Amino acid sequence: EKIPTVIFDDSDEASRVAAREIASEIREKVNQGEMCVLGLPTGSSPIGVYAELIRMHREEGLSFRQVITFNLDEFYPMGQASVHSYHQYMYKHFFNQIDILPENVYIPRGDLSLNEVYQFCRDFDKKIVDAGGIDIQLLGIGRTGHIGFNEPGSQLNSKTRMIVLDTITKQDAARGFGGMTKVPQRAITMGIDNIMKARKVILLGFGEAKTSILQKTIEGPVTEQVPASYLQQHPNAKIYLDMAAAMQL
Ligand code: GLP
Repeated sequence: EKIPTVIFDDSDEASRVAAREIASEIREKVNQGEMCVLGLPTGSSPIGVYAELIRMHREEGLSFRQVITFNLDEFYPMGQASVHSYHQYMYKHFFNQIDILPENVYIPRGDLSLNEVYQFCRDFDKKIVDAGGIDIQLLGIGRTGHIGFNEPGSQLNSKTRMIVLDTITKQDAARGFGGMTKVPQRAITMGIDNIMKARKVILLGFGEAKTSILQKTIEGPVTEQVPASYLQQHPNAKIYLDMAAAMQL
C-alpha cells in the first residue's frame, strides 16, 4: 500500500483513535503556548470524531479556546442558515457543543455573489497561511475520489476555488436535498494544495460504498482522476478504514 492504512473493527473505533490524535495535538500546542489549527470535513464520516471530541470536552476538560478551524468546503449557492449548509452542519455537530471562539471558525461561504467569490477564496488561503498552516487535516472521501469537493481533474497546485460538482456527488447528496435537481451545481472548496500543505492528514473511509475508490486511492497510480491519490505524495498522511471499506485492499 502506498498510503499508510489502518483497518479498524468499526468506524467508532477509528473515530475514537482519530479524535485522540486531534486532542493530543491540541494539548501539545496549548502547552507550547500556540494555537492549534485544524482542517475539518463534513459528511457522515467525521460525525463520530466530533462526538468523541465533544465527549472529551465535557468529561476531560479538553478546551478548544486555542483552536482555529478551517472547513474544507460549502455548496454554492448556499445560505448559512439553510439546513443543507455545511455551516449549519458544523455548528450542530460540533461548534455549538464546544468552547471554540466564533472568530476562530472559518467556513467557505456559499452566499456570496459570483463576483465576490474569487477574492473570498484568496482571503481564505491567506488566512490559513496567517494562522501558521494546518496542523491536522481531517478528511472524508467521496465516491468520485474527491477530498473536500476537489472532483476528478483537480490539479495538485489547486487552491481554494469554485468547482462544478460531479454527477455522482450530486446523486450522493440528492437524498439529503430531497432530489437530484435540488442539489446545488457548484461548491467552494479548499484546493489540493491547501490539503497537501497540512502537516498531518487523516482520511476516514467508512462503509462498503467506498471500497472501490479507496482501493484506487491507496494502491493505484497518483492521478488527477482520483484526487485523493495525491495523498500518496504527502509525507504524513494516513487512512483509517472500517472493515467494510477495506474489502478490496
Ligand atoms: C461530501 C463532502 C466531502 C465528504 C464526502 C463524503 O461530498 N464535501 O468532504 O468527504 O461528502 O461524505 P460521507 O462521509 O457522508 O460519505
